Amino acid sequence: MPGEICQFDNFELDQDSHELRRAGSVVRIERIPLELLFLLVERRGQVVGREEILGRVWGKGVFVDAENSINTAVRKLRRTLNDDADAPRFIITVPSRGYRFNAAACVASAAPAQLPLSRAAFIGRESEMTELRAGLTDTASGRLRLFLISGEPGIGKTRLVRELAAMAVASGMAVLAGQCSEHDEAVPYLPFVEIIERCIERASNPDHLRTMLRDEGPELAKLLPKLKRILPDLPPPLELPPEQARRHLFNCFCDFVARLAKERPTLLILEDFHWADDSTLSLLGHLTQRLSEVPLLVAVTYRDAEFNVTRELARTLEDLLRGRLAMSIRLDGLQRDEVAHMLRSLSGQVPPETVANEIYDETQGNPFFVEELFRYLEEENRLYGADGVFRTELKIAEGEVPQSVRLVVGRRLGRLSDRTRKILGTAATIGRLFNFELLEASTGTDADTLLECVDEAERAGLIFSGAENPKARLEFSHELVRQAVLSGLSAARRQRLHLEVAEAIERVNSNALEDHYSDLAYHYSRGDTSPRRPSIWGARVGRRCSAVPMLMRSVVSRRR
Ligand SMILES: Nc1ncnc2c1ncn2[C@@H]1O[C@H](COP(=O)(O)OP(=O)(O)OP(=O)(O)O)[C@@H](O)[C@H]1O
Ligand SMILES: [Mg+2]
Repeated sequence: MPGEICQFDNFELDQDSHELRRAGSVVRIERIPLELLFLLVERRGQVVGREEILGRVWGKGVFVDAENSINTAVRKLRRTLNDDADAPRFIITVPSRGYRFNAAACVASAAPAQLPLSRAAFIGRESEMTELRAGLTDTASGRLRLFLISGEPGIGKTRLVRELAAMAVASGMAVLAGQCSEHDEAVPYLPFVEIIERCIERASNPDHLRTMLRDEGPELAKLLPKLKRILPDLPPPLELPPEQARRHLFNCFCDFVARLAKERPTLLILEDFHWADDSTLSLLGHLTQRLSEVPLLVAVTYRDAEFNVTRELARTLEDLLRGRLAMSIRLDGLQRDEVAHMLRSLSGQVPPETVANEIYDETQGNPFFVEELFRYLEEENRLYGADGVFRTELKIAEGEVPQSVRLVVGRRLGRLSDRTRKILGTAATIGRLFNFELLEASTGTDADTLLECVDEAERAGLIFSGAENPKARLEFSHELVRQAVLSGLSAARRQRLHLEVAEAIERVNSNALEDHYSDLAYHYSRGDTSPRRPSIWGARVGRRCSAVPMLMRSVVSRRR
């Protein structure tokens, strides 16, 4: 799976960077054994025959001494992984059939944070990292720790948890991540649903999945209905009165997480809780109470400006902080010298003090703002002389650089072709993550033209493709970039785009529409203000999904 990182023992196999790491360092390994490892891990739990190995690793029609070449590659791989053919931990020989990678030894997770890598190295935050490191140590010794990480947009919350995730992986922990989204009123428990989804993706077959879910399957399927499609024989959940049903659901989710964490200490990243719905907040509270003796480190991020913190969020945070295991980390802007360091990392050369000072004064050390302003000035040819070296003078005139982050991005968007800007409008309407197929269907643009637009936006650093194949998964380089795109659209245009996206979702996913109910509810609710539309749509799909009445209720309540 693109963007996936598989961990086994202290190794990690990273799809995106296409490398094998041991305790965080890249392992030197020849290409053939590495390709073989990717294949076996991709098909973990299943026997991969010699013919398939030959075709996938060496290529079809390539003439090699198959028997010898495969044996040699397996031997090299085993040596690299310290695996023993007679008592294998990872690579199991299945006589006269092929090889199987031991799925039980392997934990897969999405790349820790679904953020594109910044161009800048990680800078500063030493004291915060010291606290987090201590948290990892506590977790390793079997205790729950909880970190509440807050700060303004773009200040570096996600980046900090990414660094934490890298540390966790290097010390052999598993990482699970889920995120709230701006429109998650329609999907209760969204970050936890994402976590279950990521967990089930690593099951190699239905039996493995059953083992993972144990008795919790029926309850977890309430959160993730597609489980019922994968395991049609899953028994129905218990019929209980609402309050008890909720408690039972919470307990089942907690037991599921506790089991994973007891198998392997786990870092649970829960992002953007300023958008958390009440049910998500309650489940977080329940989880931290119930799992205090479990090797789990929970890192919650949220924007802490007053208008972001709802009453429910404030109450939950207060309750959590009363617990002895919770700790609050509030991020401020980077220091002046750290901004200079960041500029050095972005540009590859030491910035003159005048330049660093000017950029610090404009940004107050907000790293997102530093990056964007740097790019803006670079695009405007304001930074370097003809020799490619930093100019010694940089004076940003008042009003020359827009004051807010969003407006800086807006100016950069203005440099794109009209066509690409238009396409980005649709992409931003779809969401932070979008795929090429849906974008193609929503915009009605032919694939070649669309690829050119995607390339242009990617070159400008506004979007990024998470996989080698740019058609697979695309993503805005930051949520703030997406918001800047949206803020440039009129209300009428946004409404129209939501409708176009909703209709495209129906066309593209006609085979598995139930996986997209919440997206449809969201886009239809924003796309059509006539009260009839959602109910027509609801009636159409309602018979097939018990979750729909709930979705529809939330759509209707949002309209009030
Ligand atoms: N300490 C740092 N060193 C270098 N770059 C950083 C640092 N902190 C953040 N950045 C970069 O700044 C940008 C914004 O950071 P990030 O996405 O973590 O902000 P955030 O606080 O999560 O914002 P939001 O509230 O919008 O989610 C990213 O490109 C990130 O890589
Ligand atoms: Mg963030």
